[in-house]
Amino acid sequence: MSLEAPRPQAIAVFGATGDLAKKKILPALYNLAREGLLPERHVIIGFGRTEWDDESFRTHAREAVEENSRTPLEDETWKTFAASLSYLRGSFEDHDAMAELAKMLKLADDRHGCDGGRLYYLAVPPSSFATIVQGLGEVGGNTPNARIVIEKPFGDSLESARELSAAVHEVFDESQVFRIDHYLGKETVQNLVIFRFANSLFERVWNRDAVDHIQITVAESIGVEGRAGYYEHAGAVRDLLQNHLLQMLAFLTMEPPRALEAEAFRDEIAKLLKAVRPFEPADVVRGQYEGYRSEEGVDPHSETETFVAAKTMIENWRWDGIPVFLRHGKKLPIRATEIAVFFREPPRFLLDDLGVGKLTEDHLTVRVQPNEGISLAFQAKVPGPGYELETVRMDFDYGRSFMQQPAEAYERLLHDAMDGDHTLFTRQDAVERSWELVDPLLKDHGTVRMYAPGTWGPPESAKLIAPREWHLGRGGKERSAMEPRPG
Ligand code: BG6
Repeated sequence: MSLEAPRPQAIAVFGATGDLAKKKILPALYNLAREGLLPERHVIIGFGRTEWDDESFRTHAREAVEENSRTPLEDETWKTFAASLSYLRGSFEDHDAMAELAKMLKLADDRHGCDGGRLYYLAVPPSSFATIVQGLGEVGGNTPNARIVIEKPFGDSLESARELSAAVHEVFDESQVFRIDHYLGKETVQNLVIFRFANSLFERVWNRDAVDHIQITVAESIGVEGRAGYYEHAGAVRDLLQNHLLQMLAFLTMEPPRALEAEAFRDEIAKLLKAVRPFEPADVVRGQYEGYRSEEGVDPHSETETFVAAKTMIENWRWDGIPVFLRHGKKLPIRATEIAVFFREPPRFLLDDLGVGKLTEDHLTVRVQPNEGISLAFQAKVPGPGYELETVRMDFDYGRSFMQQPAEAYERLLHDAMDGDHTLFTRQDAVERSWELVDPLLKDHGTVRMYAPGTWGPPESAKLIAPREWHLGRGGKERSAMEPRPG
Protein backbone atom coordinates (compact mmCIF):
# COMPACT_ATOMS: atom_id res chain seq x y z
CA MET A 1 0.00 0.00 0.00
CA SER A 2 1.39 3.39 -0.86
CA LEU A 3 1.21 5.93 1.90
CA GLU A 4 -0.06 8.57 -0.43
CA ALA A 5 -3.56 9.67 -1.19
CA PRO A 6 -4.91 7.88 -4.28
CA ARG A 7 -5.72 9.80 -7.46
CA PRO A 8 -8.98 11.78 -7.64
CA GLN A 9 -12.17 9.74 -7.68
CA ALA A 10 -15.84 9.59 -6.81
CA ILE A 11 -16.81 6.85 -4.38
CA ALA A 12 -20.32 5.43 -4.70
CA VAL A 13 -21.44 3.17 -1.86
CA PHE A 14 -24.35 0.90 -2.78
CA GLY A 15 -26.18 -0.20 0.36
CA ALA A 16 -25.07 2.95 2.19
CA THR A 17 -27.89 2.65 4.73
CA GLY A 18 -27.02 -0.94 5.65
CA ASP A 19 -25.22 -2.59 8.52
CA LEU A 20 -21.85 -3.03 6.80
CA ALA A 21 -21.71 0.62 5.75
CA LYS A 22 -22.55 1.70 9.28
CA LYS A 23 -20.17 -0.60 11.09
CA LYS A 24 -17.22 -0.69 8.73
CA ILE A 25 -17.25 1.36 5.53
CA LEU A 26 -18.24 4.83 6.78
CA PRO A 27 -15.91 4.64 9.82
CA ALA A 28 -13.09 3.39 7.56
CA LEU A 29 -13.58 6.25 5.08
CA TYR A 30 -13.60 8.70 7.98
CA ASN A 31 -10.32 7.31 9.35
CA LEU A 32 -8.73 7.46 5.91
CA ALA A 33 -9.81 11.11 5.72
CA ARG A 34 -8.26 11.71 9.15
CA GLU A 35 -4.96 10.27 7.97
CA GLY A 36 -4.98 12.18 4.69
CA LEU A 37 -5.35 8.95 2.72
CA LEU A 38 -8.51 9.80 0.80
CA PRO A 39 -7.96 11.31 -2.64
CA GLU A 40 -7.36 15.03 -2.45
CA ARG A 41 -10.31 15.50 -4.80
CA HIS A 42 -13.17 13.15 -4.07
CA VAL A 43 -16.86 12.85 -3.29
CA ILE A 44 -18.69 10.06 -1.47
CA ILE A 45 -22.19 9.24 -2.67
CA GLY A 46 -24.34 6.97 -0.54
CA PHE A 47 -26.96 5.07 -2.54
CA GLY A 48 -29.80 3.26 -0.76
CA ARG A 49 -33.52 2.71 -0.54
CA THR A 50 -34.16 4.62 2.68
CA GLU A 51 -35.96 7.96 2.32
CA TRP A 52 -33.06 10.19 3.28
CA ASP A 53 -31.53 13.37 1.94
CA ASP A 54 -27.93 14.54 2.15
CA GLU A 55 -28.41 15.90 5.67
CA SER A 56 -29.96 12.76 7.11
CA PHE A 57 -27.21 10.68 5.48
CA ARG A 58 -24.59 12.90 7.13
CA THR A 59 -26.33 12.51 10.50
CA HIS A 60 -26.33 8.75 10.02
CA ALA A 61 -22.67 8.77 9.00
CA ARG A 62 -21.77 10.81 12.06
CA GLU A 63 -23.48 8.28 14.31
CA ALA A 64 -21.73 5.47 12.46
CA VAL A 65 -18.36 7.12 13.11
CA GLU A 66 -19.16 7.92 16.72
CA GLU A 67 -20.24 4.37 17.42
CA ASN A 68 -17.80 2.37 15.34
CA SER A 69 -14.67 4.33 14.48
CA ARG A 70 -11.43 3.12 16.05
CA THR A 71 -10.53 6.76 16.74
CA PRO A 72 -12.80 9.35 18.36
CA LEU A 73 -14.56 11.80 16.05
CA GLU A 74 -12.65 15.07 15.67
CA ASP A 75 -14.75 18.07 14.71
CA GLU A 76 -12.37 19.55 12.15
CA THR A 77 -11.88 16.29 10.26
CA TRP A 78 -15.57 15.57 10.48
CA LYS A 79 -16.56 18.92 8.91
CA THR A 80 -14.43 18.35 5.82
CA PHE A 81 -15.46 14.71 5.61
CA ALA A 82 -19.18 15.51 6.00
CA ALA A 83 -18.95 18.09 3.20
CA SER A 84 -17.90 15.34 0.79
CA LEU A 85 -20.97 13.18 1.56
CA SER A 86 -24.16 13.19 -0.46
CA TYR A 87 -27.05 10.78 -0.81
CA LEU A 88 -29.12 9.32 -3.60
CA ARG A 89 -32.35 7.54 -2.78
CA GLY A 90 -33.37 4.79 -5.12
CA SER A 91 -33.73 1.18 -5.94
CA PHE A 92 -30.87 -0.60 -7.70
CA GLU A 93 -33.28 -2.11 -10.24
CA ASP A 94 -34.52 1.32 -11.24
CA HIS A 95 -32.88 2.57 -14.43
CA ASP A 96 -33.80 6.18 -13.63
CA ALA A 97 -32.05 6.01 -10.25
CA MET A 98 -28.93 4.63 -11.95
CA ALA A 99 -29.10 7.40 -14.53
CA GLU A 100 -29.35 9.91 -11.68
CA LEU A 101 -26.25 8.38 -10.13
CA ALA A 102 -24.41 8.73 -13.43
CA LYS A 103 -25.38 12.43 -13.46
CA MET A 104 -24.08 12.92 -9.93
CA LEU A 105 -20.83 11.24 -10.89
CA LYS A 106 -20.46 13.46 -13.92
CA LEU A 107 -21.03 16.45 -11.69
CA ALA A 108 -18.29 15.15 -9.41
CA ASP A 109 -15.93 15.33 -12.38
CA ASP A 110 -17.02 18.80 -13.43
CA ARG A 111 -17.28 20.44 -10.02
CA HIS A 112 -14.87 18.50 -7.86
CA GLY A 113 -12.24 17.43 -10.36
CA CYS A 114 -12.76 13.68 -9.91
CA ASP A 115 -11.40 13.16 -13.44
CA GLY A 116 -13.59 10.14 -14.26
CA GLY A 117 -12.12 8.16 -11.35
CA ARG A 118 -14.77 5.87 -9.86
CA LEU A 119 -14.94 3.44 -6.98
CA TYR A 120 -18.19 1.52 -6.82
CA TYR A 121 -18.53 -0.26 -3.50
CA LEU A 122 -21.21 -2.98 -3.43
CA ALA A 123 -22.08 -3.30 0.26
CA VAL A 124 -25.22 -5.24 -0.62
CA PRO A 125 -26.34 -8.89 -0.51
CA PRO A 126 -24.92 -11.02 -3.35
CA SER A 127 -28.39 -11.25 -4.92
CA SER A 128 -28.10 -7.58 -5.94
CA PHE A 129 -24.58 -7.72 -7.46
CA ALA A 130 -25.60 -8.63 -11.00
CA THR A 131 -28.46 -6.08 -11.12
CA ILE A 132 -26.19 -3.25 -10.01
CA VAL A 133 -23.42 -4.16 -12.42
CA GLN A 134 -25.85 -4.37 -15.30
CA GLY A 135 -27.41 -1.04 -14.31
CA LEU A 136 -23.99 0.58 -14.17
CA GLY A 137 -23.22 -0.80 -17.61
CA GLU A 138 -26.43 0.70 -19.01
CA VAL A 139 -25.67 4.20 -17.76
CA GLY A 140 -22.05 4.22 -18.94
CA GLY A 141 -20.68 3.65 -15.44
CA ASN A 142 -17.65 1.81 -16.74
CA THR A 143 -15.30 4.71 -17.30
CA PRO A 144 -11.66 3.82 -18.03
CA ASN A 145 -10.78 4.74 -14.44
CA ALA A 146 -13.61 2.84 -12.77
CA ARG A 147 -13.13 0.12 -10.17
CA ILE A 148 -15.69 -2.05 -8.48
CA VAL A 149 -15.43 -3.53 -5.01
CA ILE A 150 -17.54 -6.57 -4.25
CA GLU A 151 -18.17 -7.92 -0.77
CA LYS A 152 -17.98 -11.57 0.08
CA PRO A 153 -19.61 -14.04 -0.21
CA PHE A 154 -18.97 -14.07 -3.92
CA GLY A 155 -21.79 -16.39 -4.94
CA ASP A 156 -23.14 -19.23 -2.83
CA SER A 157 -21.76 -22.16 -4.83
CA LEU A 158 -19.24 -22.80 -7.58
CA GLU A 159 -21.93 -22.44 -10.21
CA SER A 160 -23.32 -19.15 -8.90
CA ALA A 161 -19.79 -17.74 -8.44
CA ARG A 162 -19.13 -18.45 -12.11
CA GLU A 163 -22.43 -16.91 -13.19
CA LEU A 164 -21.77 -13.85 -11.10
CA SER A 165 -18.33 -13.47 -12.52
CA ALA A 166 -19.66 -13.72 -16.04
CA ALA A 167 -22.24 -11.01 -15.22
CA VAL A 168 -19.56 -8.73 -13.75
CA HIS A 169 -17.24 -9.32 -16.71
CA GLU A 170 -19.95 -8.26 -19.14
CA VAL A 171 -19.38 -4.75 -17.88
CA PHE A 172 -16.04 -4.66 -16.05
CA ASP A 173 -12.72 -6.19 -16.89
CA GLU A 174 -11.13 -8.45 -14.22
CA SER A 175 -8.45 -5.77 -13.72
CA GLN A 176 -11.20 -3.45 -12.44
CA VAL A 177 -12.70 -5.94 -10.00
CA PHE A 178 -11.76 -5.99 -6.28
CA ARG A 179 -13.29 -8.89 -4.31
CA ILE A 180 -13.00 -8.15 -0.62
CA ASP A 181 -12.20 -10.73 2.00
CA HIS A 182 -11.69 -8.40 4.93
CA TYR A 183 -9.48 -10.89 6.79
CA LEU A 184 -6.74 -10.08 4.29
CA GLY A 185 -6.89 -6.48 5.45
CA LYS A 186 -5.95 -7.50 8.99
CA GLU A 187 -2.38 -6.56 9.88
CA THR A 188 -1.71 -9.90 11.51
CA VAL A 189 -2.70 -11.82 8.38
CA GLN A 190 -0.39 -9.69 6.24
CA ASN A 191 2.31 -10.12 8.80
CA LEU A 192 2.23 -13.86 8.14
CA VAL A 193 3.89 -13.12 4.84
CA ILE A 194 6.59 -10.96 6.41
CA PHE A 195 7.11 -13.34 9.30
CA ARG A 196 7.62 -16.21 6.91
CA PHE A 197 9.52 -14.59 4.08
CA ALA A 198 11.59 -11.95 5.84
CA ASN A 199 13.03 -14.34 8.46
CA SER A 200 15.01 -17.32 7.31
CA LEU A 201 14.76 -19.02 10.69
CA PHE A 202 11.09 -19.99 10.51
CA GLU A 203 11.00 -20.74 6.81
CA ARG A 204 13.36 -23.65 7.41
CA VAL A 205 10.88 -25.42 9.69
CA TRP A 206 7.79 -24.49 7.68
CA ASN A 207 7.23 -27.89 6.14
CA ARG A 208 6.25 -31.51 6.73
CA ASP A 209 9.64 -32.38 8.23
CA ALA A 210 9.18 -30.15 11.25
CA VAL A 211 5.44 -29.50 11.47
CA ASP A 212 3.05 -31.95 13.08
CA HIS A 213 -0.22 -30.21 12.26
CA ILE A 214 -1.87 -26.83 11.72
CA GLN A 215 -4.95 -25.36 13.40
CA ILE A 216 -6.88 -22.21 12.60
CA THR A 217 -9.82 -21.09 14.73
CA VAL A 218 -12.16 -18.16 14.24
CA ALA A 219 -14.22 -18.01 17.42
CA GLU A 220 -17.01 -15.51 17.93
CA SER A 221 -19.00 -14.90 21.08
CA ILE A 222 -21.85 -13.21 19.21
CA GLY A 223 -24.69 -15.04 17.48
CA VAL A 224 -26.23 -14.11 14.14
CA GLU A 225 -27.30 -10.71 15.46
CA GLY A 226 -30.30 -10.00 13.26
CA ARG A 227 -28.61 -11.29 10.09
CA ALA A 228 -30.79 -14.39 9.85
CA GLY A 229 -32.06 -13.38 6.41
CA TYR A 230 -28.56 -13.90 5.04
CA TYR A 231 -27.20 -16.43 7.50
CA GLU A 232 -30.00 -18.98 7.26
CA HIS A 233 -28.95 -19.72 3.71
CA ALA A 234 -25.24 -19.21 4.24
CA GLY A 235 -24.31 -21.01 7.47
CA ALA A 236 -20.76 -21.25 8.81
CA VAL A 237 -19.42 -23.16 5.78
CA ARG A 238 -20.34 -20.47 3.25
CA ASP A 239 -19.92 -17.54 5.63
CA LEU A 240 -16.43 -18.31 6.90
CA LEU A 241 -14.87 -21.61 5.96
CA GLN A 242 -15.08 -20.94 2.21
CA ASN A 243 -13.34 -17.59 2.51
CA HIS A 244 -11.67 -16.25 5.68
CA LEU A 245 -10.41 -19.63 6.92
CA LEU A 246 -9.13 -20.81 3.54
CA GLN A 247 -7.49 -17.46 2.78
CA MET A 248 -5.65 -17.49 6.10
CA LEU A 249 -4.55 -21.04 5.40
CA ALA A 250 -3.24 -19.93 2.02
CA PHE A 251 -1.22 -17.06 3.52
CA LEU A 252 0.18 -19.44 6.10
CA THR A 253 1.22 -22.21 3.75
CA MET A 254 1.74 -20.81 0.23
CA GLU A 255 5.10 -20.80 -1.53
CA PRO A 256 7.07 -17.55 -1.53
CA PRO A 257 5.90 -15.31 -4.37
CA ARG A 258 8.49 -14.05 -6.83
CA ALA A 259 7.85 -10.54 -5.53
CA LEU A 260 5.33 -8.73 -3.38
CA GLU A 261 3.50 -7.87 -6.53
CA ALA A 262 -0.22 -8.49 -6.94
CA GLU A 263 -0.27 -11.18 -9.64
CA ALA A 264 2.81 -13.03 -8.38
CA PHE A 265 1.18 -13.11 -4.98
CA ARG A 266 -2.24 -14.15 -6.20
CA ASP A 267 -0.70 -16.87 -8.38
CA GLU A 268 0.78 -18.50 -5.28
CA ILE A 269 -2.48 -18.28 -3.36
CA ALA A 270 -4.37 -19.88 -6.22
CA LYS A 271 -1.70 -22.59 -6.52
CA LEU A 272 -1.92 -23.40 -2.83
CA LEU A 273 -5.70 -23.61 -2.87
CA LYS A 274 -5.47 -25.97 -5.82
CA ALA A 275 -3.38 -28.28 -3.64
CA VAL A 276 -5.85 -28.31 -0.76
CA ARG A 277 -7.91 -31.49 -0.66
CA PRO A 278 -11.67 -30.84 -0.99
CA PHE A 279 -13.40 -31.29 2.37
CA GLU A 280 -14.89 -34.72 2.92
CA PRO A 281 -18.21 -34.73 4.81
CA ALA A 282 -16.86 -37.50 7.10
CA ASP A 283 -14.07 -35.16 8.23
CA VAL A 284 -16.37 -32.29 9.11
CA VAL A 285 -18.43 -31.57 12.24
CA ARG A 286 -21.31 -29.13 12.05
CA GLY A 287 -23.05 -27.61 15.02
CA GLN A 288 -25.84 -25.21 15.81
CA TYR A 289 -26.10 -23.26 19.05
CA GLU A 290 -29.14 -23.91 21.19
CA GLY A 291 -31.61 -21.08 20.80
CA TYR A 292 -30.67 -20.30 17.18
CA ARG A 293 -33.96 -21.72 15.92
CA SER A 294 -36.00 -19.30 17.99
CA GLU A 295 -34.21 -16.20 16.71
CA GLU A 296 -36.12 -13.80 14.50
CA GLY A 297 -36.14 -14.85 10.85
CA VAL A 298 -34.83 -18.36 11.56
CA ASP A 299 -36.80 -21.42 10.50
CA PRO A 300 -37.86 -23.27 13.70
CA HIS A 301 -36.55 -26.49 12.08
CA SER A 302 -33.43 -24.89 10.65
CA GLU A 303 -30.52 -27.19 9.89
CA THR A 304 -28.15 -24.27 9.26
CA GLU A 305 -24.79 -24.72 10.98
CA THR A 306 -23.42 -21.96 13.20
CA PHE A 307 -20.30 -24.03 13.91
CA VAL A 308 -17.99 -25.98 11.67
CA ALA A 309 -14.82 -27.91 12.37
CA ALA A 310 -13.07 -29.51 9.43
CA LYS A 311 -9.98 -31.52 8.68
CA THR A 312 -8.11 -31.42 5.40
CA MET A 313 -4.64 -31.86 3.91
CA ILE A 314 -2.48 -29.89 1.52
CA GLU A 315 -1.44 -32.25 -1.20
CA ASN A 316 1.85 -30.77 -2.26
CA TRP A 317 5.54 -31.44 -1.70
CA ARG A 318 5.93 -29.11 1.28
CA TRP A 319 2.89 -30.21 3.30
CA ASP A 320 2.18 -33.77 2.26
CA GLY A 321 0.59 -35.79 5.07
CA ILE A 322 0.25 -32.89 7.53
CA PRO A 323 -3.30 -32.53 8.86
CA VAL A 324 -4.90 -29.13 8.82
CA PHE A 325 -7.78 -28.39 11.21
CA LEU A 326 -10.06 -25.42 10.63
CA ARG A 327 -12.77 -24.34 13.05
CA HIS A 328 -15.30 -21.56 13.32
CA GLY A 329 -18.35 -20.99 15.45
CA LYS A 330 -20.74 -18.40 16.77
CA LYS A 331 -21.72 -18.16 20.45
CA LEU A 332 -18.44 -19.68 21.55
CA PRO A 333 -16.91 -18.60 24.87
CA ILE A 334 -14.73 -15.80 23.43
CA ARG A 335 -14.06 -13.72 20.34
CA ALA A 336 -10.62 -14.73 19.13
CA THR A 337 -8.95 -15.74 15.89
CA GLU A 338 -5.82 -17.81 16.24
CA ILE A 339 -3.49 -19.76 14.00
CA ALA A 340 -1.41 -22.48 15.66
CA VAL A 341 1.41 -24.42 14.05
CA PHE A 342 2.47 -27.43 16.10
CA PHE A 343 5.95 -28.84 15.66
CA ARG A 344 6.87 -32.49 15.82
CA GLU A 345 8.09 -34.13 18.98
CA PRO A 346 11.84 -34.75 19.16
CA PRO A 347 12.81 -38.17 17.82
CA ARG A 348 13.76 -39.39 21.31
CA PHE A 349 12.54 -38.02 24.60
CA LEU A 350 15.62 -38.05 26.83
CA LEU A 351 13.66 -37.76 30.02
CA ASP A 352 11.54 -40.90 29.57
CA ASP A 353 13.80 -42.88 31.85
CA LEU A 354 13.45 -40.27 34.57
CA GLY A 355 9.68 -40.59 34.52
CA VAL A 356 9.19 -37.01 33.39
CA GLY A 357 5.87 -36.75 31.55
CA LYS A 358 5.74 -35.20 28.10
CA LEU A 359 4.28 -31.77 27.71
CA THR A 360 2.47 -30.34 24.75
CA GLU A 361 4.60 -30.07 21.57
CA ASP A 362 6.37 -26.81 20.78
CA HIS A 363 4.08 -24.56 18.86
CA LEU A 364 3.85 -21.16 17.30
CA THR A 365 0.63 -19.20 17.63
CA VAL A 366 -0.43 -16.15 15.69
CA ARG A 367 -3.10 -14.17 17.48
CA VAL A 368 -4.93 -12.62 14.57
CA GLN A 369 -7.27 -10.83 16.98
CA PRO A 370 -7.56 -9.58 19.68
CA ASN A 371 -4.21 -8.98 21.51
CA GLU A 372 -2.58 -9.21 18.10
CA GLY A 373 0.78 -10.91 18.25
CA ILE A 374 2.87 -14.04 17.80
CA SER A 375 4.07 -16.48 20.48
CA LEU A 376 6.41 -19.41 20.46
CA ALA A 377 5.78 -22.02 23.15
CA PHE A 378 8.59 -24.37 24.07
CA GLN A 379 9.78 -26.52 26.95
CA ALA A 380 11.93 -25.16 29.74
CA LYS A 381 13.53 -26.70 32.78
CA VAL A 382 12.06 -25.44 36.02
CA PRO A 383 14.98 -24.21 38.16
CA GLY A 384 15.98 -26.60 40.90
CA PRO A 385 17.23 -30.11 41.34
CA GLY A 386 16.14 -32.87 38.99
CA TYR A 387 14.25 -32.28 35.75
CA GLU A 388 10.86 -30.71 36.03
CA LEU A 389 9.65 -29.28 32.73
CA GLU A 390 7.20 -26.58 31.94
CA THR A 391 5.92 -25.16 28.66
CA VAL A 392 6.71 -21.43 28.48
CA ARG A 393 6.23 -18.82 25.75
CA MET A 394 8.14 -16.09 24.00
CA ASP A 395 5.75 -13.34 23.07
CA PHE A 396 5.59 -10.65 20.45
CA ASP A 397 2.77 -8.23 21.06
CA TYR A 398 1.79 -5.58 18.51
CA GLY A 399 0.53 -3.11 21.06
CA ARG A 400 3.68 -3.31 23.20
CA SER A 401 6.19 -3.40 20.35
CA PHE A 402 4.74 -0.72 18.13
CA MET A 403 2.78 1.24 20.72
CA GLN A 404 -0.24 1.27 18.46
CA GLN A 405 -3.16 -0.93 17.63
CA PRO A 406 -3.42 -2.01 14.00
CA ALA A 407 -5.73 -0.06 11.66
CA GLU A 408 -9.09 -1.56 10.72
CA ALA A 409 -8.98 -4.05 7.85
CA TYR A 410 -11.45 -2.01 5.82
CA GLU A 411 -9.24 1.07 5.88
CA ARG A 412 -6.37 -0.79 4.34
CA LEU A 413 -8.54 -2.49 1.75
CA LEU A 414 -10.49 0.60 0.74
CA HIS A 415 -7.26 2.49 0.28
CA ASP A 416 -5.72 -0.32 -1.77
CA ALA A 417 -8.80 -0.49 -4.01
CA MET A 418 -8.71 3.28 -4.57
CA ASP A 419 -5.03 2.87 -5.35
CA GLY A 420 -5.67 0.01 -7.78
CA ASP A 421 -3.54 -2.49 -5.81
CA HIS A 422 -4.96 -6.01 -6.13
CA THR A 423 -2.55 -7.84 -3.83
CA LEU A 424 -4.99 -8.31 -0.95
CA PHE A 425 -8.05 -9.01 -3.08
CA THR A 426 -9.27 -12.43 -4.08
CA ARG A 427 -8.88 -13.39 -7.71
CA GLN A 428 -11.64 -15.22 -9.53
CA ASP A 429 -9.69 -18.50 -9.83
CA ALA A 430 -9.10 -18.56 -6.04
CA VAL A 431 -12.77 -17.85 -5.36
CA GLU A 432 -13.82 -20.69 -7.66
CA ARG A 433 -11.32 -23.10 -6.16
CA SER A 434 -12.56 -22.27 -2.65
CA TRP A 435 -16.09 -23.13 -3.74
CA GLU A 436 -14.80 -26.39 -5.21
CA LEU A 437 -13.23 -27.22 -1.86
CA VAL A 438 -16.47 -26.79 0.10
CA ASP A 439 -18.71 -28.15 -2.66
CA PRO A 440 -18.90 -31.68 -1.15
CA LEU A 441 -20.22 -30.09 2.05
CA LEU A 442 -22.90 -28.18 0.18
CA LYS A 443 -24.06 -31.39 -1.50
CA ASP A 444 -23.91 -33.63 1.58
CA HIS A 445 -25.08 -31.57 4.47
CA GLY A 446 -24.78 -34.28 7.16
CA THR A 447 -25.93 -33.99 10.76
CA VAL A 448 -26.06 -30.73 12.64
CA ARG A 449 -25.25 -31.24 16.32
CA MET A 450 -26.51 -28.92 19.02
CA TYR A 451 -24.19 -27.12 21.40
CA ALA A 452 -24.84 -24.87 24.36
CA PRO A 453 -24.00 -21.18 23.86
CA GLY A 454 -20.74 -20.32 25.57
CA THR A 455 -19.16 -23.73 24.89
CA TRP A 456 -16.60 -24.74 22.25
CA GLY A 457 -19.15 -26.44 19.98
CA PRO A 458 -20.32 -30.03 19.86
CA PRO A 459 -18.07 -32.64 21.55
CA GLU A 460 -17.56 -34.33 18.16
CA SER A 461 -15.26 -31.43 17.29
CA ALA A 462 -12.80 -32.63 19.95
CA LYS A 463 -13.03 -36.13 18.48
CA LEU A 464 -12.23 -34.80 15.02
CA ILE A 465 -8.86 -33.51 16.17
CA ALA A 466 -8.08 -36.31 18.69
CA PRO A 467 -5.56 -37.49 19.85
CA ARG A 468 -4.49 -33.88 19.44
CA GLU A 469 -6.36 -31.05 21.11
CA TRP A 470 -7.71 -27.73 19.91
CA HIS A 471 -5.32 -25.10 21.18
CA LEU A 472 -7.66 -22.15 21.52
CA GLY A 473 -9.89 -22.67 24.53
CA ARG A 474 -7.73 -25.38 26.02
CA GLY A 475 -6.97 -23.13 28.97
CA GLY A 476 -3.83 -22.25 30.92
CA LYS A 477 -1.45 -25.03 30.03
CA GLU A 478 1.32 -22.63 29.21
CA ARG A 479 2.23 -19.17 30.33
CA SER A 480 4.09 -16.36 28.70
CA ALA A 481 7.86 -16.42 29.15
CA MET A 482 7.39 -12.87 30.42
CA GLU A 483 4.94 -13.88 33.13
CA PRO A 484 6.33 -15.00 36.45
CA ARG A 485 5.67 -18.57 37.52
CA PRO A 486 2.67 -18.72 39.81
CA GLY A 487 3.26 -19.71 43.45
C1 BG6 B 1 -17.91 -11.77 8.22
C2 BG6 B 1 -18.99 -12.79 8.47
O1 BG6 B 1 -17.34 -11.97 6.95
O2 BG6 B 1 -16.92 -11.90 9.21
C3 BG6 B 1 -19.57 -12.62 9.86
O3 BG6 B 1 -20.02 -12.64 7.51
C4 BG6 B 1 -18.47 -12.62 10.90
O4 BG6 B 1 -20.52 -13.64 10.13
C5 BG6 B 1 -17.37 -11.64 10.52
O5 BG6 B 1 -19.05 -12.25 12.13
C6 BG6 B 1 -16.19 -11.75 11.45
O6 BG6 B 1 -15.30 -10.70 11.18
P1 BG6 B 1 -14.34 -10.13 12.32
O7 BG6 B 1 -13.45 -9.16 11.60
O8 BG6 B 1 -15.22 -9.48 13.34
O9 BG6 B 1 -13.60 -11.31 12.87
